[in-house]
Amino acid sequence: MSLKITVIGTGYLGATHAAAMAELGFEVLGLDVVPEKIELLSAGKVPMYEPGLEELLAKHVAGIEGSSGRLRFTTSWEEVGAFGDIHFVCVNTPQKHGEYACDMSYVDAAFASLAPVAREGSLVVGKSTVPVGSADRLATLLPEGVELAWNPEFLREGFAVQDTLHPDRLVVGVRSERAEKLLREVYAAPIGEGSPFVVTDFPTAELVKTSANSFLATKISFINAMAEVCEAAGGDVVKLAEAIGYDDRIGKKFLRAGIGFGGGCLPKDIRAFMARAGELGADQALTFLREVDSINMRRRGHMVELAREAVGGDSFLGKRVAVLGATFKPDSDDVRDSPALNVAGQIHLQGGQVTVYDPKGMDNARRLFPTLGYADTALGAIRGADVVLHLTEWREFRELDPAALGAVAAERVILDGRNALDPVVWREAGWTYRAMGRPAA
Ligand code: UDX
Repeated sequence: MSLKITVIGTGYLGATHAAAMAELGFEVLGLDVVPEKIELLSAGKVPMYEPGLEELLAKHVAGIEGSSGRLRFTTSWEEVGAFGDIHFVCVNTPQKHGEYACDMSYVDAAFASLAPVAREGSLVVGKSTVPVGSADRLATLLPEGVELAWNPEFLREGFAVQDTLHPDRLVVGVRSERAEKLLREVYAAPIGEGSPFVVTDFPTAELVKTSANSFLATKISFINAMAEVCEAAGGDVVKLAEAIGYDDRIGKKFLRAGIGFGGGCLPKDIRAFMARAGELGADQALTFLREVDSINMRRRGHMVELAREAVGGDSFLGKRVAVLGATFKPDSDDVRDSPALNVAGQIHLQGGQVTVYDPKGMDNARRLFPTLGYADTALGAIRGADVVLHLTEWREFRELDPAALGAVAAERVILDGRNALDPVVWREAGWTYRAMGRPAA
């Protein structure tokens, strides 16, 4: 008989994992403590923008016409306990307020609710990103006969469905052959397609996630540090990234210089990692991450400075600033720790009249920064602008017509905070185009 799977927590990770498990052929029950989320998901809707996810849900959620009916949602822990052979814990682990450390309260609450109801013989699998050592501790909270495994998730927002169904690797921390066997059964399809399956212990599994994100953050900050040097020396960081990227050992990806990384993962994960290393007495090993963080934060301030220069150098007072992009990256509506909104907010606080446009992130941006100006289109944001800031590299912005925009802008000055627009096209249309880490003209 096929395994029955529950997914606890239906945010980005959980909603995607639940839908993916149903797609792989399992009966799935998703749980969230927020009833509104359950209502929405039960109707096949997702509370965020994630390409392909709504389609996948509609394909499987019970009660939707033509669906497989394999996917249901509930708020009942009893139902989850009675149903599941395997429970995936996918709740979020944000940064603690005012601290670097990770807030484990949602994970702890999930284990406290699950422990009394989980059936003997069931397997609990942690997927949340946690400080190393958490799994050892959480295992002690489960009753005899209920085992724990750790299986970190590497999905990227915007590619969540693809990354879950076709992961570039699967990592499982296990304490028994049985747990490994069960997880091999769950992931039989991706393993069959060639996804490597790495079996390890709890601490290593936890560390794989935080070290992978630290490496990615380091790569971005490295190229941003090179952008600073290029600006000082008159070099071109885009060419430099291309040239070093041809070396396979370095690789081309994650070398796009600009206003730096944001989102719900990289910034908080490197900070939580530093905090945890400190607790373990290994803080010296990760002091470089402080530099990674500080290079990254400096990018935002630098973009504000470039914008100030562009509007005359003194102040933003009386100046209109158009901001293209609000989300932390394209193909997402996520504005958590968004460099784009941070830059927009700083300019607003310094007296600039900021108008933001984003293809998908407007509602979330409005909620977070209600005092900024917003426009319904890129053209609307640019109308009358003294400077245009391109801060999130949506495809829509690459397809804009610089000539048409030039007709409505007060000044034809664009600063490319993502090195994603074509300088030649913009300059030919009469714009002064400046990008981070590249020569002025
Ligand atoms: C990241 C990891 O990639 C993923 O494996 C993990 O599971 C969760 O964290 P995500 O937060 O979705 O995923 O975003 P990612 O695509 O990694 O981008 C993070 C940030 O880095 C974005 O703000 C992006 O704009 C920025 N970035 C990325 C750069 O500034 N330059 C680059 O070259 C690449």
